[in-house]
Amino acid sequence: MSDPERELRVSKIRNGTVIDHITAGQALNVLAILGIDGDEGVGVSIGMNVPSDKLGTKDVVKVEDRELSQGEVDVLSLLAPEATVNIVREFEVVDKKRVERPERVVGLLTCPNHNCITNQDEPVESAFGVVDDGVRCEFCGEIVREDIGDHLAVH
Ligand code: CTP
Ligand code: ZN
Repeated sequence: MSDPERELRVSKIRNGTVIDHITAGQALNVLAILGIDGDEGVGVSIGMNVPSDKLGTKDVVKVEDRELSQGEVDVLSLLAPEATVNIVREFEVVDKKRVERPERVVGLLTCPNHNCITNQDEPVESAFGVVDDGVRCEFCGEIVREDIGDHLAVH
């Protein structure tokens, strides 16, 4: 057994949301998707490439004084399918949920196809359907299979 006192890299929080078991290296993309950039003034702690029994290494994001909803976190499943979302109140985990794959993702990703209408300065919002092997642009059919975080419109 590992000693939890030695393992803990990021302090426990009193109230808020802990997104745990994030695919290693994706923490900053997770924050970008959630629209959290520090300007809100809430406490944000990030652990990157920390040891994990289940995953080898993982990232962890803790957002204080904000309880993220299932809908807000489901889009994270595209980057971090193993993520767990823990709602913390008065230091206790009161709710733990898995991220679930959404059916579509609107306004969050840019299409890699330069000829796509969504890249032509038209007032068109990007929309991708979630398919088995990635996400598929609803306008041109382009499929993004890997490194979805590299196509975030919110960076
Ligand atoms: N956590 C926190 N602050 C708290 C309570 C929990 O930051 N006041 C964090 C823990 O450090 C952990 C996550 O929230 O990263 C989930 O906590 P918990 O369910 O207690 O841990 P585990 O049982 O290890 O979770 P799992 O089974 O999901 O791995
Ligand atoms: Zn497209």
